Amino acid sequence: MFPPGDGGEADPVAVYHDAERPAPAGRPWVLVNMVASVDRATAVDGLSGPLGGDADRRLLGVVRGLADVVLVGAGTVRAEGYRPPLTPAAAVGGRRATRGQAVRPRLAVVSGSANLDPSAALFADRDPDDPRPLVYTSTDAVPDRLNGLSGEAEVVVTEGVLDVVEVVADLHDRGVGTVLCEGGPGLVAQLASAGLVDELCLSVSPLLVGGGSGLLSGAPLATPMSLRLAHVLTAEGFLFCRYLAC
Ligand SMILES: NC(=O)c1ccc[n+]([C@@H]2O[C@H](COP(=O)([O-])OP(=O)(O)OC[C@H]3O[C@@H](n4cnc5c(N)ncnc54)[C@H](OP(=O)(O)O)[C@@H]3O)[C@@H](O)[C@H]2O)c1
Repeated sequence: MFPPGDGGEADPVAVYHDAERPAPAGRPWVLVNMVASVDRATAVDGLSGPLGGDADRRLLGVVRGLADVVLVGAGTVRAEGYRPPLTPAAAVGGRRATRGQAVRPRLAVVSGSANLDPSAALFADRDPDDPRPLVYTSTDAVPDRLNGLSGEAEVVVTEGVLDVVEVVADLHDRGVGTVLCEGGPGLVAQLASAGLVDELCLSVSPLLVGGGSGLLSGAPLATPMSLRLAHVLTAEGFLFCRYLAC
């Protein structure tokens, strides 16, 4: 739909994977991908699934294929029963190989409490060829929880309050070039507040939900963040909007 083309079908893999993502100085490119209703709700009865559809799920696979690391808040992991990223479709997998990326993105979870079930699918269903998920946590977490997770995850413990700036810096130190944050609104708000969002891929679901939630939770940003619309695709009543920070 935008920018105007020849009226033909767009190839989402080409549209998303051919886009330029110049490396910001000293940190990875941070892309946020969320789905929201027309009235910007990000969950129905506590889950994002009812907002999605086949087109949205296909696009999620395309966008995930860009990432070295999928970063997610523990609230989303607990609510959604998060699982490791699947092996991408061939068109995406080929591009990952060309870019020198791993077959699948690595998962990274932010959890101050470390309240994550070590037997959950997030850890148990990992392909044996993949590194363990990263868990960013704090010395405030209960030691037994840290011990319980240490076999299933690479646990990174920060002294005191955990700052997303440190999380992103640690990912950079690990050689991560592209981080995809899949929410939830609490984590996205912190990244935006820290000036760490380079790209927002927003799927607008043709639903009204009500209830007053939004893409970012918590206090308003100190300064509203300006976005430039890079493209809009549409399929099955969804709008797939790609915004860049400016
Ligand atoms: N529509 C969408 O695209 C979408 C995407 C994702 C999620 N969602 C929905 O959003 C809801 C969950 O969102 P949410 O905002 O509550 O959760 P969230 O952002 O996923 O996670 C919040 C949790 O992450 C941890 N965390 C985040 N920042 C932290 C920091 N700086 N230091 C320490 N811990 C930190 C904390 O975990 P601990 O409590 O373990 O300390 C915190 O409780 C669910 O209903 C989910 O379905 C929707």
